[in-house]
Amino acid sequence: MDLSNLQKVLGVTGLGLGLVVGVGLGKRFFSQSHGRSFKSHGGAKDDPLTKYVLQNSLREHPVLQKLKQRTLEDQNYLMMVACEEAQLLANLATLIKAKKVIEIGVYTGYNTLNMALTLPADGVVVACDINMDFANIGKPFWSEAGVEHKIDLRIKPASETLDELLQAGEAETYDFAFIDADKVNYCLYYEKCLQLIRKGGIIAIDNVLWGGRVLSPGNDAETLSIDELNKKIARDSRVNVSMLAIGDGVTLAFKL
Ligand SMILES: C[S@@+](CC[C@H](N)C(=O)[O-])C[C@H]1O[C@@H](n2cnc3c(N)ncnc32)[C@H](O)[C@@H]1O
Ligand SMILES: *[C@@H]1O[C@H](CO)[C@@H](O)[C@H](O)[C@H]1NC(C)=O
Repeated sequence: MDLSNLQKVLGVTGLGLGLVVGVGLGKRFFSQSHGRSFKSHGGAKDDPLTKYVLQNSLREHPVLQKLKQRTLEDQNYLMMVACEEAQLLANLATLIKAKKVIEIGVYTGYNTLNMALTLPADGVVVACDINMDFANIGKPFWSEAGVEHKIDLRIKPASETLDELLQAGEAETYDFAFIDADKVNYCLYYEKCLQLIRKGGIIAIDNVLWGGRVLSPGNDAETLSIDELNKKIARDSRVNVSMLAIGDGVTLAFKL
């Protein structure tokens, strides 16, 4: 990947990019590969208990499985959501009878497809990303699964798409949002999602443990941003909250 592409994903990749291109790019990136991740295709890949969890709970749609295999061939594969985490999100969306979902950071669309599969026929996933090449990897699988019509892909900065939804009068009409794009904008995405989500809806925020780096953010902009949002949600009376050590850490904010 060229450097501009690299910079685009840098903000969002953390462990993944660090691992994959770290050797070529030197210490700063490589150092980001260290730390603790519970991701079943990342840091916890060879952990026997992780395998046990997958063997005894993962019910992956065959096309999701194919999309995962294809994504694992991409150099940025560590950006992909953990499949067991995505399954939890789908179960939660079903539980609250979600119809309208926002995905902030699509990559190849593992979770986008996962959500589209669980939504009713008239459901929609507004899928926000800035990188069409990533989405093009996933698209054939979205149509193979027969749910492409439920996926409204918007290639532009997610903050612009969220503003457009608000301007279109869609405040408090969404049921579920998954925040998983550039980390420096996490607080902004959270605030906009809180406006777009209905009472009883759920905002899930990925990478809240950031490979363990939240314990000592130093002056790293991404880590500081994640830590800032974690602390903000902890005392946010607008939501109930659970922070789970699954994948790279996910926070569930339940809008009151
Ligand atoms: C961690 S990946 C998303 C993984 C995805 N949720 C999944 O299910 O596998 C982050 C994505 O955010 C995208 N991204 C980065 N900056 C963005 C921005 N400002 N607006 C929208 N998407 C952005 C990147 O192109 C990348 O595809
Ligand atoms: C939020 O938590 C309170 C106290 O535990 C509970 O009574 C309430 O039902 C919860 N609301 C939601 C939407 O989860």
